[in-house]
Amino acid sequence: MVKKILMIVFLQAAIGYLVVPEIMASDIDGQGLYAKHCVLCHGEDGTGKTDLGSGLGARDFNDKKFQAGITDEQIVEQIANGTEDKMFPFSDKLSSEEIHALVPVIRAFGK
Ligand code: HEC
Repeated sequence: MVKKILMIVFLQAAIGYLVVPEIMASDIDGQGLYAKHCVLCHGEDGTGKTDLGSGLGARDFNDKKFQAGITDEQIVEQIANGTEDKMFPFSDKLSSEEIHALVPVIRAFGK
């Protein structure tokens, strides 16, 4: 009985050791970041049809042509550096990991 418990404790520790770093790496909530920082202009649906987004000329993330015409690196760059007078840069607000976590959120609109 004791042996069994020890075995379970050992296994849990081993599994925890293997699994935890992976969970931490993907622990960033890209959707949550989008909702917090991007919805104001790009909209919950990613169309950019918000007062600010329409006025400033944000493109529709759902558009297949938009998705095909932009690389992941360009998405990262746009979020980090923004566009003068249109979209402010996020490099001082979000970490590099957080910015990268937003790429699949943008891509998901095109699927
Ligand atoms: C103040 C409004 C505003 C906010 C907030 C904003 N954006 Fe933008 N974004 C824009 C505008 C306007 C453009 C178009 C810029 C251009 O034409 O160069 C744009 C462009 C983009 C593009 C490239 C597609 C395009 O239309 O050129 C991506 C990707 C993007 N934004 C992602 C994000 C993400 C992710 C966030 C949140 C972290 C965010 N934006 C926050 C206004 C905003």
